[in-house]
Amino acid sequence: MSTESLRKDHHLIEKMLKALDTTAALLKSGKTIPAPILDQMIDFTKNFTLVCHHGKEEDSLFPALEKSGMPREGGPIARMLFEHEVTKQLASKLEESAKIYLQSGRADSLVADIKGYIDHVALHLAKENHRLFMMADMILQGKADQINRDLARSEEEKLKELGKTRSHYEKLVSDIELGLA
Ligand SMILES: [Fe+2]
Ligand SMILES: [Fe+2]
Repeated sequence: MSTESLRKDHHLIEKMLKALDTTAALLKSGKTIPAPILDQMIDFTKNFTLVCHHGKEEDSLFPALEKSGMPREGGPIARMLFEHEVTKQLASKLEESAKIYLQSGRADSLVADIKGYIDHVALHLAKENHRLFMMADMILQGKADQINRDLARSEEEKLKELGKTRSHYEKLVSDIELGLA
């Protein structure tokens, strides 16, 4: 399947969305969230999701779909690119409101921005899982090996640039899950 590694990324991103949801609930009930947990969440949203995962989709999957005849403009690719841009803006807002929270202890905007981020990203992942990836798996059926190699190479390059590894981000997510439990 051409989208296997991207679906694996989605699974990890969904775990982070759950952790963010727990964080928002804890903040709302007046609990304090320590800076290292927020910093790790922001690192994940910026680096794993935006740089590594969106990078893999934009550099490998979308071009492969275009080559197979899916238009870049006015179709699902354009829509997904637009949603990646929105994800980026929402991640910046989240980072800003986390800073405000850590400086002032005021959690209102952080709770609202966490919710906004979760709603947008959850919907984006669902659209890709149930529509774009379904189409991709059909359209790219004969090219799955090539696409998987491209995605693996792209992931390795992005993570190397960040000085991180995939197991680092997998551990980061489970540490956060444990830290919030
Ligand atoms: Fe995407
Ligand atoms: Fe995705």
